[in-house]
Amino acid sequence: MTADLPRVTYSNIGADFGPLHDHLDRAIPAFAADWLGRAWTSRFATGPARNVASPIDPALVLGAFPESTPQDVRAAVASAKAGARVWNKSSLDDRLEFAARWRAALAEDKDLLAMAALFEVGKSRLEAMGEADEAVDMLDYYPGELRANQDYRRPMNQMVPGESSLSVQRPYGVFAVIAPFNFPVALSVGMLCGALLTGNAVVYKPSPDCALTGLLLAETLRKAGLPEGVFNLVLGGAAVGEALATDEGIDGVVFTGSHKTGMAIFRHMAGRPWMRPVIAEMGGKNPAYVTRNADIARAAAGVARSAFGLQGQKCSACSVVYVDSAVRDQFVAAFKEFAGKLVVADPRGREVFMGPLYSDATARRFEASVAQARAEGKVLFGGDRIEELAGNYYRPALVEMDGPSNLTRDELFMPFVVLRPVDGLEAALAEGNAVSYGLSAGIYTNDEEELRQFLEGAEAGVLYANRASGATTGAWPGGQPFCGWKGTGVGGKGGLGTWYLPQFMHEQSHTIM
Ligand code: ALA
Repeated sequence: MTADLPRVTYSNIGADFGPLHDHLDRAIPAFAADWLGRAWTSRFATGPARNVASPIDPALVLGAFPESTPQDVRAAVASAKAGARVWNKSSLDDRLEFAARWRAALAEDKDLLAMAALFEVGKSRLEAMGEADEAVDMLDYYPGELRANQDYRRPMNQMVPGESSLSVQRPYGVFAVIAPFNFPVALSVGMLCGALLTGNAVVYKPSPDCALTGLLLAETLRKAGLPEGVFNLVLGGAAVGEALATDEGIDGVVFTGSHKTGMAIFRHMAGRPWMRPVIAEMGGKNPAYVTRNADIARAAAGVARSAFGLQGQKCSACSVVYVDSAVRDQFVAAFKEFAGKLVVADPRGREVFMGPLYSDATARRFEASVAQARAEGKVLFGGDRIEELAGNYYRPALVEMDGPSNLTRDELFMPFVVLRPVDGLEAALAEGNAVSYGLSAGIYTNDEEELRQFLEGAEAGVLYANRASGATTGAWPGGQPFCGWKGTGVGGKGGLGTWYLPQFMHEQSHTIM
């Protein structure tokens, strides 16, 4: 049973996972034999099916997945409207009981979900298990928050004798839940928790690259048992997402994905007769700062892990490292030594740290960025294609640039980290903050004054200091609220924190004489 096996919490990747690896050596081929290559059907996806190949190896067919038609989207929203009539009135106990059943179903299907993510995204086996473990933990964390906050109901002051007032939080109705490819389990479960545990019905659209994971996740919800119509699944890409987010029946959208798409959803909502909430997590450009007072070996490991884990395809990935000129050479040597040991290969293997880039478009962007760095700066490490593997396998890159550019400002979403030599933390923070995102940032220093300067001065929602397991990544439910600032997200409240759930509800004041 998997219950006795070590759990992966991202920041413990690097620990000894012996028994888990033994288990995965059997589970991965078993999953491939049982689940890959099927032709799927789904109630609200009646359009033509598309064969999808795995990024691990283009010869590996994940399955044939149908797309939702515009009529399917409308039918799914209508179904959710009917479900909302029941679920919007659910009691706290109803929702907590559902959460317990869903947690059990997720724990039971943890391997399936992780394996689907491994094959669909090309993530390493430990990253894949990590997000399945994270999803299960969300079903401990969010119900705990709901309970501890008594469903976010608060007695208010009495203004007139004999009168009582209460602040209650009510669900909006129906949420569209639009998920990205990179954490198809954890980010889907997080957003679905937000909507479902607060009493909203949902129409869920997984990434078009992760239909298998989405379908298996839908199965856990079927097992958990929700009233008819509360959970609905649509499948497809941008056109289906747009039809869903702009459907008149949708009362709110929760979205994780690109800045461009997130902003388009906001613009659409702004043009409506009344606003509906948009909860959006839209990427990052996350810096790490290595000062002259840093433990350099720790900094090199932390930066490499958070820049290259999941092939850099995390919104929290480190993508620029500001290194004090006094320790630049030492840092580069330590980085090369650490990163040189990270294995890039087919992620079914035991020791693999990085799998393939998930798409041809990302591979082209990676090659173009390496070429730009070669022309305008220096490539210090990696950047080359691993020709002997089918699929987009590349050695991750560390490049050095003399000044700010698109490479230090734009989100790249690939295993590519820019080193900027700087004189002092103040100059580094000024440049690191001069981007339109603000998700995470990290520092390596043993100096208390520098640490204070960083905590006060970094313009990002999630700050880490001196973490060897990752300079800017590794947020966990209940551990690190995931709260993007600036162009990363809206409202300063992301997932994994105390203030996530209330965003899915609107406040109502009840005063009764
Ligand atoms: N929890 C993931 C991280 O922090 C998204 O990288």
